[in-house]
Amino acid sequence: MSRIAYVNGRFVPKAEAFVHIEDRGYQFADAVYEVWALFGGKLADAEGHFVRLERSLSELKIAMPMSRTALTHVLRETVRRNRIQEGLVYLQVSRGVATRDHAFPAEGVRPSIVITVSRVDRAASEARAAKGVSVVTTPENRWGRCDIKTVGLLPNALAKQKARESGAVEAWFVDELGLVTEGASSNAWIVDQDGVLRTRDTNANILRGVTRNSLIEVIREAGLKVEERPFTPDEARQAKEAFITGAGTLVLPVVAVDGKPVGEGVPGPIAARLRRLYIERAKAKAI
Ligand code: PDD
Repeated sequence: MSRIAYVNGRFVPKAEAFVHIEDRGYQFADAVYEVWALFGGKLADAEGHFVRLERSLSELKIAMPMSRTALTHVLRETVRRNRIQEGLVYLQVSRGVATRDHAFPAEGVRPSIVITVSRVDRAASEARAAKGVSVVTTPENRWGRCDIKTVGLLPNALAKQKARESGAVEAWFVDELGLVTEGASSNAWIVDQDGVLRTRDTNANILRGVTRNSLIEVIREAGLKVEERPFTPDEARQAKEAFITGAGTLVLPVVAVDGKPVGEGVPGPIAARLRRLYIERAKAKAI
């Protein structure tokens, strides 16, 4: 397991890595995060995650704690010290430490930064992808700024727990129109009856998944048709295939929604192909 964390300028054993009790991330979820997949010790989709990090911070008026170059160096150094090749890198930046007061602290409070790395068993992930996973649906109950990747994840955590208790791996939020928004920690996709790849548009209240964006390029390069258009859980069940995307799941086939099969109830060829193409490209471009 990972042993070293980066906390506010220092590399420390994880067991001794602490943040202050008045960190605004802890008290108000006043913090943003990013997760990079790690292939061969290198960061996948690095640029996309940096761009989104900078946007999340800027939307919340939190300063970027260091330049992108310096941050890249620190992320890589944390990976190196943990000797992890295949895994996930977690970065969290909060507004910093200040006596509890809802409004922002005075100027000069420095953002807090934490980085951890965890190992992923790629063989186990491939086995899971070959089998496919189930999802459950749950009413959308999150705030209106899901485009910002904040650590305010309580609805996501509760949805994920609901999934786990039903033997599913992911929960799909469904809005008041009956349309799937996204997963608790992934974006949702189908291959519809016409063979068109569909995922929710980013005018909706969803996270602009970096994996989602890269996959759109992969799909176009593969000569397949993609539409950013919503779908209902019923359409997902009637679809040829369904899958989810994210730094943790990459491209992961969904074989059941609320206990009912998607298509034949087994992973389909398109998701399998896209998973392979996505991983190949992510590996080639990782830094
Ligand atoms: N989650 N939607 C939500 C709500 C997410 O939390 C995530 C990622 C995604 C996919 O985004 P990306 O492709 O950029 O990873 C979509 C991360 C992995 C997490 O919370 O661990």
